[in-house]
Amino acid sequence: MIAHAGALPTGVTVWRLDLSDAEAARAVVSDYLSAQERAQLAADRPTPWRARRALVRAALRALLGEACGLAGQDVPLVLGANGKPSLDASAGQPDLHFNVSHSATQALLVLSRAGAVGVDIERHKARRDVVALAQAAFSPVEAASVSAATGGARLGRFYRLWCAKEACVKADGRGVSLGLQRFVIASPAAGSSRLVAVSLPDRNDTPWAALQLWDLVVPDDYSATLAILPTSL
Ligand SMILES: CC(C)(COP(=O)(O)OP(=O)(O)OC[C@H]1O[C@@H](n2cnc3c(N)ncnc32)[C@H](O)[C@@H]1OP(=O)(O)O)[C@@H](O)C(=O)NCCC(=O)NCCS
Repeated sequence: MIAHAGALPTGVTVWRLDLSDAEAARAVVSDYLSAQERAQLAADRPTPWRARRALVRAALRALLGEACGLAGQDVPLVLGANGKPSLDASAGQPDLHFNVSHSATQALLVLSRAGAVGVDIERHKARRDVVALAQAAFSPVEAASVSAATGGARLGRFYRLWCAKEACVKADGRGVSLGLQRFVIASPAAGSSRLVAVSLPDRNDTPWAALQLWDLVVPDDYSATLAILPTSL
């Protein structure tokens, strides 16, 4: 189970998987996949990325199966309009939410009975022009914050913002199609509180005002954020 920067709400658990040995795990994971997922894995050209993705899906099924009292391969998963997987109503677990993220050799899986969740992990890629990327993808104030940072802090700030923003749109379920420029992560500076406020001036129709964000503790060359939309609001 992952270590994180502070206590998460009751009912929320995050696991971190090291995917370095995903190829070796290929035979094992197929025990947990649905028939459709097994067929897809067999049909696709084997790549490390596909093997890792299958391992994450198998781990997710194992965790959900335990939570639902079902065999992993029988857990009924459905896709939302923007591709967010969730439990089908037939699982009889209306309050059980989950989300996964994977990057390079690390994956995070979160199960929640406290509300919808989104999680994002990213390995830092040092050669990227993060100022240009931030200007293209972030709000102006966030892009300026990345540009103002220097040295290694710039890369860290970019990825901290990126993960926070992706976690938000994944908790929401609409994904990046929602538009990463349409909202602002309010406390992006390194060293600030783990709980980062989000303002969404143009989306007063959503419960995002209550959205909670946590930086998660992951290996040094990664950033990761968990977003929770509490059910009670
Ligand atoms: C989900 C999304 C943020 C992926 O981010 P990423 O950093 O590339 O990948 P991650 O590893 O963090 O997350 C992938 C997992 O998120 C989950 N996911 C997929 N769509 C999701 C969504 N709309 N909301 C929340 N979670 C989603 C899936 O479990 C997926 O893993 P799987 O396919 O192996 O099951 C991005 O692909 C997205 O927004 N997709 C929605 C569709 C969309 O808006 N497309 C527009 C393209 S311009």
